[in-house]
Amino acid sequence: MTLMALSSTAVVQAAAWGYKEIADALHAVMEADRTVYTRLIVNRLQNQEKVITASEHWKDDKALVLPAQMFRYGSEMVAEKGANFSYSLLSLWPVNKQNAPKTDVEKEGLEAINKSGAPFYKEETLGGTKYFTAIYPDKAVAKACISCHNDHKDSPRRDFKMGETMGGVVIRIPM
Ligand code: HEC
Repeated sequence: MTLMALSSTAVVQAAAWGYKEIADALHAVMEADRTVYTRLIVNRLQNQEKVITASEHWKDDKALVLPAQMFRYGSEMVAEKGANFSYSLLSLWPVNKQNAPKTDVEKEGLEAINKSGAPFYKEETLGGTKYFTAIYPDKAVAKACISCHNDHKDSPRRDFKMGETMGGVVIRIPM
């Protein structure tokens, strides 16, 4: 194969990956890691075997890092590396007020995924930059999710059930 033919094949393959496919792939990895951490570490050690608890003050309490902290520390590290996308975990019923939706698209998306249970995609312009924004339902995949949120003193909602959408993962890619 000539170099020309090789490079045009590469272009065709790259073009098959649109913003949606990239966001979906990133989210698949995030969701898998988040579910594994919550089920095999937090839910098993805290809720089932009662070996150690998870706490937002994990350092002082010598406790496990919360699933949401695990997620944020990862996203901060990705930002430090200068990756060309960002992600966060938000909710219409946030324990931490910082995790409430801020942009119109975040609000619209969280409401939409809450009704449909399916991902939401929209373009938005922030600070003069156009973004592809994807929002995925963040569901209660373990008992630990609902027991902790329903009992948390700062939680504005106390009736979360297994499998329910508790918030959303927002992935933003500059276009
Ligand atoms: C042991 C307690 C605990 C467990 C277990 C837990 N959470 Fe949370 N979650 C929190 C706390 C506390 C925050 C706020 C943390 C922060 O932003 O620093 C939070 C944040 C969140 C947020 C962002 C909005 C908000 O409430 O601030 C979502 C969405 C969320 N959790 C969903 C889940 C899901 C789904 C699971 C299970 C996969 C889960 N949580 C497991 C305590 C918990």
